[in-house]
Amino acid sequence: MKENEIKKCLGIEVIKYIKPNSIVGIGSGSTVSYFIKELVRIKHYIINTVSSSYKSSYQLNQLNIPVVDINSVKNIDIYIDSADEIDNNMYMIKGGGSALTNEKIISSLSKKFICIVNNSKLVKKLGRFPVPVEIIPFSYPLIINKIRKCVGGIPILRSNTITDHNNLIIDIYELDLNNVKLIEKKLNNIPGIVTVGLFTQRIADIVLVGNCDGSITKFS
Ligand code: A5P
Repeated sequence: MKENEIKKCLGIEVIKYIKPNSIVGIGSGSTVSYFIKELVRIKHYIINTVSSSYKSSYQLNQLNIPVVDINSVKNIDIYIDSADEIDNNMYMIKGGGSALTNEKIISSLSKKFICIVNNSKLVKKLGRFPVPVEIIPFSYPLIINKIRKCVGGIPILRSNTITDHNNLIIDIYELDLNNVKLIEKKLNNIPGIVTVGLFTQRIADIVLVGNCDGSITKFS
């Protein structure tokens, strides 16, 4: 099965986890865009959605799926998003699509977080994919130096990218993630870094993995 067909299967499957009258958090990226297409089928029985990016909001609007400001909801029942990499502990690298800040906020506020990924995203150890960090634009070369000193790796400014918060993204290549929790903490402590694309604190409650034959494996 082609990658996009697997994403479609994931979208169909994850819809089953959404209960009537839910407020649904919506992630970002190509996998999520397949989920949004399936969400149309049940839009009449969800209350609202909150979205993690302008891009997802646009797609929701186009499909007449209600999307509201996060500050107008009391709670988020379920959050559905993908990841760039996920390991056996369900630790994730996210932010390939630059929406990591809102994704981290919404996942942390959600009662349930379901991660949907193609099996190509499963890794024994995180780090093949560069770790994205969102930074404020002020003095970015100094932040790059600071990252090198604090955690190592090869931090590179992502070209032609401005986030929904008007910030920049630095991708850290070849980062040693043997102690991924410590690295997340160290990066979080660098002034100027807004969000680190390592998700080791609020991990997913359920991971749905799409296999090449179209079957879905569930981890929880
Ligand atoms: C968006 O910022 C990311 O966190 C996405 O969840 C991640 O990049 C996965 O995207 P794809 O579904 O396009 O692979």
